[in-house]
Amino acid sequence: MIIGVLNQKGGVGKTTLSLNLASAYADEGRKVLLVDADPQGSSLRWSSARAEGLAPLFPVVGMAKPSISRELPVMAKDYDVVVVDGAPRVSELGRAAIMASDMVLMPVQPSPFDIWATEDTVQLIREAQHFKPSLIAAFAVNRKIANTAIGRDVLDAFAEADFPVLKAQVTQRVLYAESAMQGLSVVEVARYGDAAREIRKLAAEIRRFAGEERKAA
Ligand SMILES: Nc1ncnc2c1ncn2[C@@H]1O[C@H](COP(=O)(O)OP(=O)(O)OP(=O)(O)O)[C@@H](O)[C@H]1O
Ligand SMILES: [Mg+2]
Repeated sequence: MIIGVLNQKGGVGKTTLSLNLASAYADEGRKVLLVDADPQGSSLRWSSARAEGLAPLFPVVGMAKPSISRELPVMAKDYDVVVVDGAPRVSELGRAAIMASDMVLMPVQPSPFDIWATEDTVQLIREAQHFKPSLIAAFAVNRKIANTAIGRDVLDAFAEADFPVLKAQVTQRVLYAESAMQGLSVVEVARYGDAAREIRKLAAEIRRFAGEERKAA
């Protein structure tokens, strides 16, 4: 399965969720590939920040080019899970990454402004679905403040959205930035910590969601 972690809006957590989800799937024993589809090269930078001698959990390759939609499905045949860390803003790359994906996961911060700002990405997904009806998509809340409920205004903004919001939510935690700095994932830093637990939950829900949507198709 190819999971495109995409949102045309910058700084919403595409790279953070991509590498941590990839790590959770690798930790389950799956054969994982992380694809950096962003010219900024954040996932590649992350993997090169790893201490020398520390084995990588999965390979990371750069593919920030429109041909990803043709090349990646071929490459993906050798893996159980491929996670694509997408680029912000550039719609040509966004469109190609969406077309390469079986499922698009849109990280979004719990604010109406951020939800409304996903409109461009939603539009690209809708267009892609004309060519690829099997394509599915969902939102994942990132940077939720711990022990607070999502506000009514945020829920209202989600209610207007075209795609479902996954139940598993990712919290605002310094560990996400601290672990990334060393080229590590939260699962590696604190296997049974709260961050690792929420990432595993999200990873499991994505698999269930993709399975159910496929059955329904
Ligand atoms: N759950 C979180 N808790 C704390 N910090 C976070 C969380 N998610 C993301 N961040 C921080 O927010 C910033 C943006 O995150 P990230 O780089 O993952 O977003 P992005 O969507 O990949 O950005 P870009 O659009 O530039 O590629 C980073 O500094 C990251 O460490
Ligand atoms: Mg990024």
